[in-house]
Amino acid sequence: MRIIAAKDYNDMSRKAANIISAQVILKPDCVLGLATGSSPIGTYKQLIEWYKKGDLDFSQVKTANLDEYRGLPKSNDQSYDYFMKDNFFNHININFDNLHIPDGEEPDAEKACADYDRIVADLGGVDLQLLGMGHNGHIGFNEPSDVFAKGTNCVDLQESTIEANKRFFASIDEVPRQAYTMGIGTIMSAKKILVVVSGKDKAPIVKKAFFGPITPRVPASILQLHPDVTVIADADALSECEL
Ligand code: GLP
Repeated sequence: MRIIAAKDYNDMSRKAANIISAQVILKPDCVLGLATGSSPIGTYKQLIEWYKKGDLDFSQVKTANLDEYRGLPKSNDQSYDYFMKDNFFNHININFDNLHIPDGEEPDAEKACADYDRIVADLGGVDLQLLGMGHNGHIGFNEPSDVFAKGTNCVDLQESTIEANKRFFASIDEVPRQAYTMGIGTIMSAKKILVVVSGKDKAPIVKKAFFGPITPRVPASILQLHPDVTVIADADALSECEL
């Protein structure tokens, strides 16, 4: 595991965007695994800026997002489908036929999960997976649990996650209680993984996830076993670690 210390959120975002840019330049038809949340927004902004300058071409890139709320229509401005278009896809020359996100509008959880596993398998797996990390160590929406989920699964969101995400909704009652998420097994099968994490509030979980024991109680801790993980963390997020 490579841990890169960034000065602040902007520095973290630029470094992450540099790594994604290199991936797109080296393999123009690569599969990018993408994430939502506030952590990657700066990375997407930077990539858009470089695309607008003419440095990047996304025309052949394919994407597979980590997760989606169950039961939220795509048109809802809090759906991850909407988030990705708003923060990234609408601003670059990506082919919309090449974008994949679990189908939150599919009520049959078993079908939604099996379909998404098939989609990711048909893409040939993920070349570079971008990840944020929740305060409880969740990646995608894989919440702390007794086991590491292999494939796409339907999860009950933890109270702390609902609490953390309520800022995006009019009230806490509107936050969906379930989500479909790519499993830990699928995330771990990505060729490369890039984690972005920032802020003092993430410092305790950074220490636990990347320096503590590997346990499904801290889902991100499994990343310590992946052969090609880069964590880009700002000074605040690293403030409890001795590097
Ligand atoms: C969300 C997403 C995750 C994300 C995490 C952290 O609930 N499902 O994919 O990594 O929480 O979010 P943030 O980056 O806003 O702290």
